[in-house]
Amino acid sequence: MKEINTIGILFVCLGNICRSPAAEGTFRHIVNAKKLSHLFHIDSAGTAAYHIGEGPNSRTRGVAEKRGIRLEHSARQFTREDFSRFDLILTMDDLNHRDVLSIKSTVEDAKRVMKFRAFDPDTAISGHIPDVPDVPDPYFGGPEGFEHVQDIMDRTSAALLEWILSNNSRMG
Ligand code: 4NP
Repeated sequence: MKEINTIGILFVCLGNICRSPAAEGTFRHIVNAKKLSHLFHIDSAGTAAYHIGEGPNSRTRGVAEKRGIRLEHSARQFTREDFSRFDLILTMDDLNHRDVLSIKSTVEDAKRVMKFRAFDPDTAISGHIPDVPDVPDPYFGGPEGFEHVQDIMDRTSAALLEWILSNNSRMG
């Protein structure tokens, strides 16, 4: 069941320890700063089961903390029920996107799924899925990858909130 009178936002990546908890924590940080937390329920999930129960990756957490953002999440796997619990499901890359859509239950569910970077003001592209860039997976790379991911989180989460606040009558 959806929570009544709140907008449900779910961020989805592969492992739910790097990108999606960073997006969840960053979006929540911006929402809290604007004193809008009563309007939202915010969560994240992974398409894979590898890291269920783990906290965010230490490198992801460290980069966020340097920017004043605290990440607290216990990794979980995306399930079919998430379609009825969230208004918007935001995927980090094309693989997550395909995996989420592959377990969709209705056409209406699929309409709630978008790539996160459709809201990235630096790419300013919306519409076709293949045209929206991925949030690159930093897990197997160096520290600069984690900084780059957090830069994407900061600007895209801010733009996402602005979009929601000006379009929220479109949320079912
Ligand atoms: P995430 O990153 O999808 O951003 O959480 C990954 C975390 C773990 C793995 C891959 C990506 N892994 O293969 O364990």
